[in-house]
Amino acid sequence: MSIESTILITGGAGFIGQRLSRALLAQGCKIRIIDNFNQQIHTAASLPDELAKDIELINADIRERAAMQKALIGVNKIVHLAADTGTGQSMYEIDRYFSVNVQGTATLLDLLQNDPCGRKVESIVGASSRAIYGEGSYFCKVHGMVYPNQRSKAAMEVGNFEPLCPHCNANISFSATSESAPFNPMSVYGLTKQVQEQAILMFARTRGINGFGLRYQNVYGPGQSLKNPYTGILAVFSNLARQNQPIEIYEDGLESRDFVYIDDVVEATVRSVNYVGGFTGALNVGSGQSTSVIDIARKIKNYFKSESEIKVTGAFRLGDIRHNIADISKLKNTLDFVPGTQFDLGLKNFLTWAANQAPQDKAAYKKSVDELSAKGLMGLQASKSR
Ligand SMILES: NC(=O)c1ccc[n+]([C@@H]2O[C@H](COP(=O)([O-])OP(=O)(O)OC[C@H]3O[C@@H](n4cnc5c(N)ncnc54)[C@H](O)[C@@H]3O)[C@@H](O)[C@H]2O)c1
Repeated sequence: MSIESTILITGGAGFIGQRLSRALLAQGCKIRIIDNFNQQIHTAASLPDELAKDIELINADIRERAAMQKALIGVNKIVHLAADTGTGQSMYEIDRYFSVNVQGTATLLDLLQNDPCGRKVESIVGASSRAIYGEGSYFCKVHGMVYPNQRSKAAMEVGNFEPLCPHCNANISFSATSESAPFNPMSVYGLTKQVQEQAILMFARTRGINGFGLRYQNVYGPGQSLKNPYTGILAVFSNLARQNQPIEIYEDGLESRDFVYIDDVVEATVRSVNYVGGFTGALNVGSGQSTSVIDIARKIKNYFKSESEIKVTGAFRLGDIRHNIADISKLKNTLDFVPGTQFDLGLKNFLTWAANQAPQDKAAYKKSVDELSAKGLMGLQASKSR
């Protein structure tokens, strides 16, 4: 990386953005951030002092064309992180999610194409998401690799949470999802991330510049927002455990996710920014391991020696997926990097950090669940009805 690189990070004040900024500063880059300090995530509209002194900050919305134009002056590379990120919330704040995630990206790409400073940008790295796969890849004994449809409400109401083969309705086993799996998002958030990624890669290909769609899995670690009740299961559970509040688990608790530690995500992103040679495409950024939600709740409860009751409620959110595990072979082959932080170590780092932060309003999470319920986006397994 040449010392002259000036990198614009949209959404750079967020969880991934701050860690990424520190890593890129350490290698001698100039960093500019555009961020509007979304109040759902941030407790203050400023960067921590130790970052603020080294970074040029534009406090603005990415959809403000004039601000984005200013942000592009002298920039060689872009990391586009700004987005609204709540899967459940996206199912009823549809206009807002499209506006920020899709229109915001369109404004950026329009300036990269039409603005004299934008024309000088030589690489764009976009934060995509595993949400674009929906349920992802499964194996059917008869049909081989299959990509299940959205699970039906009727099936989940009788406790059948596992997806079925889309061809023969047989039981199937989940397997690692690779980048060649089809787009099949099950949430508005996932759909907006799909459009965002496709727009970035189409633009990069047309302009002949490097373009990365980094399909982050569930990113966790110190620094993630503890305030946002709409996303971040580790943050939500740790907040409830610290306040000895019941931890309510959706479905039967066996649903699982691929948790990838923040330092690994930052390393993959830095390698994409620094990539020498031509690349336009998508890469999964995950740990390649899956962890069940109930295991996480137990580990967090134990860590805090909490009196929280772990309740498997049988409730479910429409738009949630069942399991997730990333195939990370393309990441390894392209960036020569395998995320290596073991979940137990990463979780310990996160919880040690979270224990030193102020506990968040415990009513906020309940409000986020009540919102989903009021919009008809929650279901309940009949045998668990109260
Ligand atoms: N954290 C994860 O688990 C995860 C997983 C998959 C994908 N991603 C993607 O990675 C990116 C970064 O995620 P994060 O976890 O750091 O999220 P975050 O919410 O911590 O950071 C997002 C930042 O974008 C800013 N922002 C939001 N709307 C904006 C707007 N209109 N104009 C300017 N700034 C705006 C917010 O203020 C925030 O600082 C997002 O695009 C997200 O979709 C994250």
